[in-house]
Amino acid sequence: MIPTTGGITNLRAGDGLTAWRHGRVTTMHDDEGWDPHDDWSVVTRGDTIVWIGAEGKMPADLRRSIQLEHDLAGRLLTPGLIDCHTHLVYGGKRDAEFERRLSGVSYEEIARAGGGIRSTVAATRRASQAELLSSACQRARRLQNVGVTTVEIKSGYGLDFETETRCLEVARDVGQECDLSVRTTCLAAHTVPVEFDGAGDAYIDEVCRWIPRWSSDRLMDAVDVFCDTVGFSLEQTRRVFECAARQGLRIKCHAEQLSLQGGAALAASFNALSCDHLEYLDDAGIAAMRNSGTVAVLLPGAYYTLQQSTPPPVAKLRQAGVPLAIATDHNPGSSPLLSLPLAGSMACTLFGLTPYEAVRGMTRSAARALGLEDRGCLAAGKRAHFAIWEYDHFREVVYWL
Ligand code: NIG
Ligand code: FE
Repeated sequence: MIPTTGGITNLRAGDGLTAWRHGRVTTMHDDEGWDPHDDWSVVTRGDTIVWIGAEGKMPADLRRSIQLEHDLAGRLLTPGLIDCHTHLVYGGKRDAEFERRLSGVSYEEIARAGGGIRSTVAATRRASQAELLSSACQRARRLQNVGVTTVEIKSGYGLDFETETRCLEVARDVGQECDLSVRTTCLAAHTVPVEFDGAGDAYIDEVCRWIPRWSSDRLMDAVDVFCDTVGFSLEQTRRVFECAARQGLRIKCHAEQLSLQGGAALAASFNALSCDHLEYLDDAGIAAMRNSGTVAVLLPGAYYTLQQSTPPPVAKLRQAGVPLAIATDHNPGSSPLLSLPLAGSMACTLFGLTPYEAVRGMTRSAARALGLEDRGCLAAGKRAHFAIWEYDHFREVVYWL
């Protein structure tokens, strides 16, 4: 894995012991304080951190065995950013829909008229696997260029067995092709496809037949449902979660984005990894998420693009101790955004997070939203996924636009 840089490029870790010396290091470990540590160093072997600490405290025998060294010359080193909610694999684009929304037509109206997600589904079904891979890799590289080392990629623009399978395979291939750590999530329950119009329950029957096949082919790490008026009802969402749980798969939920449906409380009752969006989340949902340790993934790019005016209840989530993560939600409709730092900036300006919460939300809490304990903060034993920035302080990650 090449550590991603915010300005300097291609410092590759060697196979043996590699030292990254004289950095300003933000570990994202709460018990180590929030300010960056001056003149710290990290020693890695392959993809793993073997030692981290003040340069002067590096054990002499470790120092002697180092085979490759990089002088960070005081540059900021943070955990690699984790984009824990994206829809990177799709065909086409929706700029005309953007223009219609600006003239006053709502996202729901466009969806009901057959536009929105369904129009991307049509373009995705027409695209070849090679085309989908090439466009998804271009987007993935844009994310990498601004610090991302792990990305979650959802299916959800195929909505038939063959195309959803293709999209999950492409998502896996993005990881290989781009030297990026990828987690895949099945979002076959994104919306009712046109051939099942008016027959959402029958479509959910199909999805529940497909999930075990993808699960046995190890094509996905989690299952998500869009629980909303333009997605699926609470009862339909429950059936997908029950199916996922029978396969031993973890759950995520697009919940309370456009209206309050109770999806967050339902997902929490299945011990969900995360509930995402949450603009209309109520107190019962917050309490349920707190009790299940479910992460709240905030998606300010969608809130901004859809010009929503009810932000998620950040103060109450914070007070309840629900971890707050931030992601781009990159998709061609509601969030054509390819900068996770910009999502972090928006989380501060639009949702009231502090810069520390925002950076934590793109590292440590984002790792938790994916069920990954081996990354998101810097410590011995964790993955050597980090970002090196031409910055003095981590808050600059969400300051520069
Ligand atoms: O996360 N909310 C549902 N799904 C996507 C948008 C999908 C689309 O408009 O294509 C989201 O915002
Ligand atoms: Fe989404």
